[in-house]
Amino acid sequence: MQQSYNFCHDLPTKPLPESGRILVTGATGYIGGRLVPELQERGYRVRAMVRGIAPEVTERWPGVEVAVADALGIDSLMRALEGVHTAYYLIHSLLLGQKKFASADIEAAINFREAAEKQGLKRIIYLGGLGDVQSDLSPHLKSRITVAQTLMLGRVPATFLRAAIIIGSGSASYEIIKHLVQNCPVILVPSWARTKCQPIAIRDVIKYLVGVLEKPEETAGRSFDIGGKDIVTYEMMLKILSEIHLKKRLFVPFPVKTIKLYAYAASLLTPVPAAITMCLMESCHNDVICQNDDIRRIIPFQPMPYREALVRAMSREESDFVATRWSDAYPPAHELAIKLNEVESFPLYRSSYAMLTAKKASSVFASITRIGGKEGWFRSNLLWRIRGWCDRILMGVGVSRGRRSHTTLRINDVIDFWRVEDLRENERLLLRAEMKMPGRAWLEFTLTPDTKSPAHVLSVHAYFQARSFWGKMYWYLFLPFHVFIFNDLIQQIEKRSL
Ligand SMILES: NC(=O)c1ccc[n+]([C@@H]2O[C@H](COP(=O)([O-])OP(=O)(O)OC[C@H]3O[C@@H](n4cnc5c(N)ncnc54)[C@H](OP(=O)(O)O)[C@@H]3O)[C@@H](O)[C@H]2O)c1
Repeated sequence: MQQSYNFCHDLPTKPLPESGRILVTGATGYIGGRLVPELQERGYRVRAMVRGIAPEVTERWPGVEVAVADALGIDSLMRALEGVHTAYYLIHSLLLGQKKFASADIEAAINFREAAEKQGLKRIIYLGGLGDVQSDLSPHLKSRITVAQTLMLGRVPATFLRAAIIIGSGSASYEIIKHLVQNCPVILVPSWARTKCQPIAIRDVIKYLVGVLEKPEETAGRSFDIGGKDIVTYEMMLKILSEIHLKKRLFVPFPVKTIKLYAYAASLLTPVPAAITMCLMESCHNDVICQNDDIRRIIPFQPMPYREALVRAMSREESDFVATRWSDAYPPAHELAIKLNEVESFPLYRSSYAMLTAKKASSVFASITRIGGKEGWFRSNLLWRIRGWCDRILMGVGVSRGRRSHTTLRINDVIDFWRVEDLRENERLLLRAEMKMPGRAWLEFTLTPDTKSPAHVLSVHAYFQARSFWGKMYWYLFLPFHVFIFNDLIQQIEKRSL
């Protein structure tokens, strides 16, 4: 796994592993998940901060310490920051939704600043957003800047890196652009699509994050703008990608400017749900270009042009190695993350379907782990899609989130509207639903040796914990479809195993 990472060996700075322990907050997130192995590769002692501990976290980064802390609780932060030299602050609360994220972001930053001071940290490095502070910024960009100001007010010198759109395999912005180009023969272009932006490749972001750590004297306590080689408009970004994909797309100027409407449409046409498209696209009327290039003199390398960043992202997808994805971070306050074995009253409703298979357990299990994404849900695809569309209309996650990889699976990966809760090789795959529904739902695949023959029993179990009367109605409404959906599911899985 480690060899597959694209480490930044060409970084013009030298590692300083003797400086002390490095804490990466937001380690389960898109950026943090890539920074941890990079720092480890450069010889640093790394501690990854996560909100929920699980064996898969320690397995993912062997040799990395794991600290469990919530930035909204200072006590756990104090423990996570003990003995730390430098902390990366890569936390944001976008998934809490429009009403809550800004106050949560400030509270987390204040707690972090206080804990860092009490624990005597030497540095904080924070990655936030670009945007002209004088202009009318979107709530998301404003919040990113307020977090920087909050952190920089403290006694621990904080370095603030400001980035615009990040382009990389698995980044939300890249997936929005890609799916719009793939799915829309006609693209409506509002006036704000001519706003300027300076996208940066994820690889260059990681280089700057590591670079500032390795240039403490020049960068501590300062703010830097980081950007790619090109300044483009949102319209150009779409046009360039359609050229690369060799897709002829008609770009039609459109008088309606309401960004919320476009963000909502984007959530229906792409895998990225409304909670994220709204926050990201609200910033589209703000120019997000670098105001200074001081960082280029301190960490001198040539940032990638936009085209190259796209091609790299595409090639990572094609070779099926997407290290982290926007969907990796957990949903709001882990509200949905209650595990099947943690549910107080065991789900009242359950339906199970099973079949015997003479095929090898390993190949049947491999087939189980390929479901969803490109492989789809077989004959019941249309039903899942209709359910997914209803969810997207209600601003839920829908079924089109896809998967990080089409062949490999790890705990916490997303498969369309499910999240992997448990994965035991050749035995069990447990998925937890993240759709909007009046209850909690799980789908479990098991593979057990048959007691009477050398065959295996392939089973699928649906569990539902109803939240209310509507929950019960919901279960009984879908129950008649289970026979068709689940019998087909296990039959197709079995058929597709080698
Ligand atoms: N991705 C981009 O395109 C982009 C562009 C410009 C700037 N940035 C900046 O880069 C930073 C990281 O972004 P990202 O894309 O990696 O974010 P992300 O994938 O959404 O991850 C956010 C991380 O924050 C953690 N988190 C949220 N609330 C927390 C809390 N109360 N306590 C502890 N951890 C908490 C999440 O942990 P859980 O898994 O437990 O929820 C998750 O690991 C942000 O400051 C963002 O503004 C990102």
